[in-house]
Amino acid sequence: MSEKEKVLQRYKRSERVNHWIVALCFGLLAISGLAFFYPAFFWLTGVFGTPQLARMLHPFIGIIMFVGFMVQFFRYWKYNFLDKEDIKWMSSPVAILKGHGVGDVGKYNGGQKGMFWLMTGCMIVLVVTGLIAWRAYFAEYFPIPVVRLALLFHAWAALILIAGIIVHVYAAIWVKGTIRAMVEGVVSQAWAKKHHPRWYREMMAKNERQDKEAETETAGK
Ligand code: HEM
Repeated sequence: MSEKEKVLQRYKRSERVNHWIVALCFGLLAISGLAFFYPAFFWLTGVFGTPQLARMLHPFIGIIMFVGFMVQFFRYWKYNFLDKEDIKWMSSPVAILKGHGVGDVGKYNGGQKGMFWLMTGCMIVLVVTGLIAWRAYFAEYFPIPVVRLALLFHAWAALILIAGIIVHVYAAIWVKGTIRAMVEGVVSQAWAKKHHPRWYREMMAKNERQDKEAETETAGK
């Protein structure tokens, strides 16, 4: 078997289901949010049946996205602290755009790590301001200027997150073999070696250890 055909597990099924639930919620929230914000996009409420239904569902979908993202947050935060290899990676945009691997990158590169914290910040602002502005349940407990400010920050956080997700999706498509990680759960060893060399070595060492343990176990039977 050639090296290209050998794969490494990057995401378990539960992680992938979690990710795509968050992504689906994000899509629905972006569609309904933009429809409420820009009259030119109002027709998008048709996706939900009626504008009233869109308005009613938006906050509930927001809660599902937030909870789903928090599960992702607690899964991945420990892999998302910047180290000096990430700084090397972040200082070489031209080499990266040319498709070269830069730095001894671990599970995530500097760009992914920055995106992770941007997503986290936006999610927190969105949920807090969204709850304050949720007319059906909470808005009446806050003075009107607070609700207005909450809506202003809500819209800003949403626009920043939408821009961030466009970059996230573009990067996932740009780096060949990445989408497969979130669809099939695996990446080729060649992909890992090139884009995440430190993670590649860690995974190879782990797999080797597991193989040895399995061999000793079978020999002992
Ligand atoms: C159609 C939309 C999306 C696509 C195609 C997509 C694609 C991907 C892919 C391929 C990965 C794996 C990257 C790797 O392992 O190197 C990934 C990871 C991830 N995605 Fe998405 N994604 C989408 C939407 C979203 C949304 C809406 C969110 C949350 C707001 C999100 C949050 C994450 C997180 C937290 C990770 C884990 C990696 C990290 O910490 O950077 N994704 N995505």
